[in-house]
Amino acid sequence: MTMDREQATALLRWYGEIGVDEAVTEGPVNRFAVRAPDPAPQAATASQPEAAPVQTQAPAPRPAAPAPIASNADVVAAAAAANSHDELMAAIHTFDGCPLKRTATTTCIYDGNPEARIMIIGEAPGRDEDVQGKPFVGAAGKLLDKMLAAIGLDRTNTYITNTLYWRPPGNRTPTPEEIALCLPFLERQVALIQPGLLVYTGGTAAKAMLNRTEGITRLRGRWFSLEREGRTAIPAIAMFHPAYLLRRPENKRHSWKDLLAIRAKVDELDLLQDATRQKP
Ligand code: URA
Repeated sequence: MTMDREQATALLRWYGEIGVDEAVTEGPVNRFAVRAPDPAPQAATASQPEAAPVQTQAPAPRPAAPAPIASNADVVAAAAAANSHDELMAAIHTFDGCPLKRTATTTCIYDGNPEARIMIIGEAPGRDEDVQGKPFVGAAGKLLDKMLAAIGLDRTNTYITNTLYWRPPGNRTPTPEEIALCLPFLERQVALIQPGLLVYTGGTAAKAMLNRTEGITRLRGRWFSLEREGRTAIPAIAMFHPAYLLRRPENKRHSWKDLLAIRAKVDELDLLQDATRQKP
């Protein structure tokens, strides 16, 4: 099919509008045709003498086989082996078992202060986050910064991360399998950061961490408690995702209520006093 300049421009504009803003490869990849590398040639044995070399054409180069998709048990083990925040960051950076990593540009884990007592969890990196390798640096991040500033918070007294560390292509919603695969890393992050308060922005983080099926409209503005064996329970609240508020600004009034509730809890628990605390 041929198209003129105007049609091509219209097509590109439409791609942008539906979130296809990046060429992942120049052409489609037939994953069924990607073969695992051949096993190493075996040495000749007395009973199986080496066959005479056969003249063949040089084999066509094959695409490298992608890293195998990890199992949940692999992620649980990798996360449990990390005994500090730095070790966990290294483990996530070197982890190749999540298929999203194949199309992402960077591994985007956190921004803010690992000593902070307030932990904010979003969904997944978008285009700007994927480029910069830091959560919430694009338009939604700028709104998040304003929302935090309205209650006296910023990136020096909060720790900001996502449910997934790799950008889903075209910003599509992460699948339940992708979320479940990466969840042990996020759980370990919470265990190592030991926040005094958790804020989930958007339904993906809230549903994953609270193990609930309701949507964000039902979950937001309510207090929950994150309870994990052997650890102090952590108060947790969900609120609308800033990206949603950019599309539906009329809902900001609900978020203002949620922000006031968060600030009241921060004061009640004295969470801004001890960024240099000894972790319990
Ligand atoms: N949306 C998210 O959920 N996280 C980001 O880091 C950016 C946008």
